[in-house]
Amino acid sequence: MGAMEDEVRLIRADLDEVEELDGSCELLRGRLDGTAVVLAQCGIGKVNTALAASAMVQAGATSIVFTGVAGAVAAGLKIGDVVVGNRFIQHDADDTAFGHPIGVVPGEPPFWEPDPDLFATVFDAVRTLDEPRGHRVVAGTIVSGDQFIAQAEKVAWLRATFEASAVEMEGAALAQAAHHLGVPFAVVRILSDSGDGDAAVDFPAFLNDAAHRGRDLAHVLARVL
Ligand code: ADE
Repeated sequence: MGAMEDEVRLIRADLDEVEELDGSCELLRGRLDGTAVVLAQCGIGKVNTALAASAMVQAGATSIVFTGVAGAVAAGLKIGDVVVGNRFIQHDADDTAFGHPIGVVPGEPPFWEPDPDLFATVFDAVRTLDEPRGHRVVAGTIVSGDQFIAQAEKVAWLRATFEASAVEMEGAALAQAAHHLGVPFAVVRILSDSGDGDAAVDFPAFLNDAAHRGRDLAHVLARVL
């Protein structure tokens, strides 16, 4: 799964035996290096992600890996580094008026975790690909919300409140949906910006690089999953 055209277009170009499926988002079934896959371009934001996760499972997906870009939050991470999520929180969930901690959706766990086996497989694959190219690859907390973060103060808040490593707009929604659908999931985010005043400029400039790296990862995962 990816959110935007740029996050999935190169993977789509490499699919064989492509079949277009009906759904709320662009949904394809095909083969990647001989492995049966479902590819979804879910669109931006939490609701689109949840709908796409459901559609992917209906289309036969037995696990879901999200690849895309994110804003860097943790100190020491820079554009080009990678965060593989080991904890997911919806930073825009706010039911504090009724005594729930910030970021907690009432009735849901305080955070979601990926499937440990899938996480380990994906983490190894990303390290094998990206560390030799000079990028840091870390496991960390990914926070998601229906907001593009372009303000250093907001980044500082996300770091202090959630110990977040990266911020984006889909991962924790996939986490919640996958939990309810009973399907393993993992999320890989290449850092495209720092969520600050330069974010809106850095983000589009980086998408092409991220697209190529997402495609490389998809090929490795098609061989090992
Ligand atoms: N995806 C990539 N960069 C982002 C940012 N700064 N905020 C939210 N989602 C993003």
